Amino acid sequence: MRFKQILSILSLSVCVPSVVGYVVNNGTSCYLYPESLTHFGQPVDDTPSILQAFELCGINGSVIFTENTFHINQIMNTTNLQNCDVTLAGELQFSTNVPYWLSHSINVGLQNQSTAWLIGGTNLSFRGVGSGWINGNGQTWYTENKSNANQPRRPITMTFYNSTNLFVDNLNITQPQFWAIFVSFTKNATLNNIYVNATSNDQWSTTNTDGADTWNSHGVFMTNWTVQNGDDCIAAKGNTSELYVKNATCIGGNGMTIGSVGQYPLMPDYNENTVFEDVRVIDSGDGAYIKTWQGIAVGESSNGDAGGGGPGYVRNVTFKNFQIENVGLPIQISQCIYSEANASNCETSKMAVSNITWENFSGTSRYNIAASLHCAGSHPCPDIFFRNVNISSVNETKGEPAWNTTLQKEIYQCANILNENSTSGIPCNRWAPSNFGQGVSGNIQESGSQSPSRVRKYL
Ligand SMILES: *[C@@H]1O[C@H](CO)[C@@H](O)[C@H](O)[C@H]1NC(C)=O
Ligand SMILES: *[C@@H]1O[C@H](CO)[C@@H](O)[C@H](O)[C@H]1NC(C)=O
Ligand SMILES: *[C@@H]1O[C@H](CO)[C@@H](O)[C@H](O)[C@H]1NC(C)=O
Ligand SMILES: *[C@@H]1O[C@H](CO)[C@@H](O)[C@H](O)[C@H]1NC(C)=O
Ligand SMILES: *[C@@H]1O[C@H](CO)[C@@H](O)[C@H](O)[C@H]1NC(C)=O
Ligand SMILES: *[C@@H]1O[C@H](CO)[C@@H](O)[C@H](O)[C@H]1NC(C)=O
Ligand SMILES: *[C@@H]1O[C@H](CO)[C@@H](O)[C@H](O)[C@H]1NC(C)=O
Ligand SMILES: *[C@@H]1O[C@H](CO)[C@@H](O)[C@H](O)[C@H]1NC(C)=O
Ligand SMILES: *[C@@H]1O[C@H](CO)[C@@H](O)[C@H](O)[C@H]1NC(C)=O
Ligand SMILES: *[C@@H]1O[C@H](CO)[C@@H](O)[C@H](O)[C@H]1NC(C)=O
Ligand SMILES: *[C@@H]1O[C@H](CO)[C@@H](O)[C@H](O)[C@H]1NC(C)=O
Ligand SMILES: *[C@@H]1O[C@H](CO)[C@@H](O)[C@H](O)[C@H]1NC(C)=O
Repeated sequence: MRFKQILSILSLSVCVPSVVGYVVNNGTSCYLYPESLTHFGQPVDDTPSILQAFELCGINGSVIFTENTFHINQIMNTTNLQNCDVTLAGELQFSTNVPYWLSHSINVGLQNQSTAWLIGGTNLSFRGVGSGWINGNGQTWYTENKSNANQPRRPITMTFYNSTNLFVDNLNITQPQFWAIFVSFTKNATLNNIYVNATSNDQWSTTNTDGADTWNSHGVFMTNWTVQNGDDCIAAKGNTSELYVKNATCIGGNGMTIGSVGQYPLMPDYNENTVFEDVRVIDSGDGAYIKTWQGIAVGESSNGDAGGGGPGYVRNVTFKNFQIENVGLPIQISQCIYSEANASNCETSKMAVSNITWENFSGTSRYNIAASLHCAGSHPCPDIFFRNVNISSVNETKGEPAWNTTLQKEIYQCANILNENSTSGIPCNRWAPSNFGQGVSGNIQESGSQSPSRVRKYL
């Protein structure tokens, strides 16, 4: 690491010079000023100063990003902090040096994903104040990635890692490079008042700009989120338990999800005790869904897209008080999320799904389908419940029949739901074929790829 100007001004009590770039270390507080202030506004890398600030003040101290623009040109590993309060009053701007990030981003241990910033510790807080924000400069990524999925080493903006008692408040992440926030190996985390907006200015989409993913984390509380993006709004990946999401608005993207889970045979996924409540999902591909891999490992790839065969369960999940507006597939269980083309795979999942409730859903589906619940034949699902679910097609609200179909009513399709005809409350009116992947792109026709005998069962 190059030597940094450090001013130890333990005795300074009055003014802070405002025209130099460095760490002002005032006792246990480290005030950060950007290098650009001494370099005629040039975007000189601020990561050495930032790392220095965390070294000086990361234990029993505070790190304050003053109201300036900071250039993040390198990966940062600021872990093992203790009793540290971070305040963001300025802008953290990530560089657009794509080759640099593709060769340096830090592997996070899941799906070949990696991150630009690994941060964590015990009793860590991270607060945005005033107009503080994080600028992922993601447009460069959206454009260079050309709408492809899971570009290896495209970096997650921030990964909260190995943390206990984490408190994050008032973060604004605009144009994240990839997933905006990842919470991994963390216990008792609160993330409130979070705004993520991944919107592309050109023809390329914001693929994989998840608002947040959690993994191997227990007790994660998320309140007051707004996410506009091009993938899952909030996704509970493997080994997430006691996730509680309250008051979120998801625009575009794919809504709230558990998954994908069950990707790796040697890494069982146990997901339980999850609540998503008071959620608006607007113009999204999905609304409230569960996605597991099939039971047979398929393919090989360098981008984390291959897998299947992982064991485990998803149980005790409640999706409650959802306002759905123009959503492609509002409610779903898929157990072969990335191999739906091969229908036989869809009955093989090693993930057992049970005790899932969708309660108080209202609004509109984009097509003529409200729900597709396909549990794997290998693990028919017990205790699946709908309570007060009322979704109608956007066209139905215009008084028009489902376009180019012979189906008159909103589709609720089911397969392998154990309590379907007894306590489920699901108005199942069609067999759920397995071939739905993560979404639908048009009205469901009467005939599909499902076997005719199964169709007859419901029509
Ligand atoms: C430095 O710390 C002293 C004592 O805690 C405080 O009075 C002073 O305002 C601090 N200076 C800055 C720039 O925060
Ligand atoms: C991050 O820094 C910690 C020391 O705080 C070190 O133990 C760990 O190996 C580093 N992780 C990575 C991925 O560099
Ligand atoms: C995780 O944090 C604990 C402190 O809670 C620390 O002892 C441990 O070394 C950290 N593990 C890693 C891999 O950084
Ligand atoms: C959980 O973390 C919060 C900080 O977000 C802290 O105030 C609280 O005491 C922690 N709870 C437990 C049980 O440690
Ligand atoms: C987030 O930051 C961007 C850039 O400063 C700003 O335009 C936007 O209004 C902010 N959004 C919120 C909700 O604070
Ligand atoms: C997200 O950003 C786009 C482009 O700046 C803007 O049009 C949209 O209103 C923003 N969304 C939210 C929820 O603020
Ligand atoms: C959620 O937002 C409301 C309205 O701004 C605010 O009153 C409330 O305190 C916020 N909740 C949390 C947990 O920050
Ligand atoms: C819900 O969160 C939004 C910010 O995403 C906030 O504006 C609104 O006031 C919150 N609502 C409640 C009831 O806290
Ligand atoms: C189900 O999850 C909720 C929310 O975490 C929890 O309150 C409840 O105790 C769980 N039920 C069971 C049977 O574990
Ligand atoms: C579902 O949860 C209830 C308690 O909330 C429990 O009695 C029941 O056994 C659970 N069902 C399954 C299949 O786990
Ligand atoms: C809704 O109806 C309009 C015609 O009024 C049609 O153009 C559109 O494709 C329909 N959308 C769906 C999903 O059926
Ligand atoms: C209308 O539905 C038929 C199948 O019933 C399908 O072959 C055809 O492609 C559909 N037309 C359009 C324009 O989607």
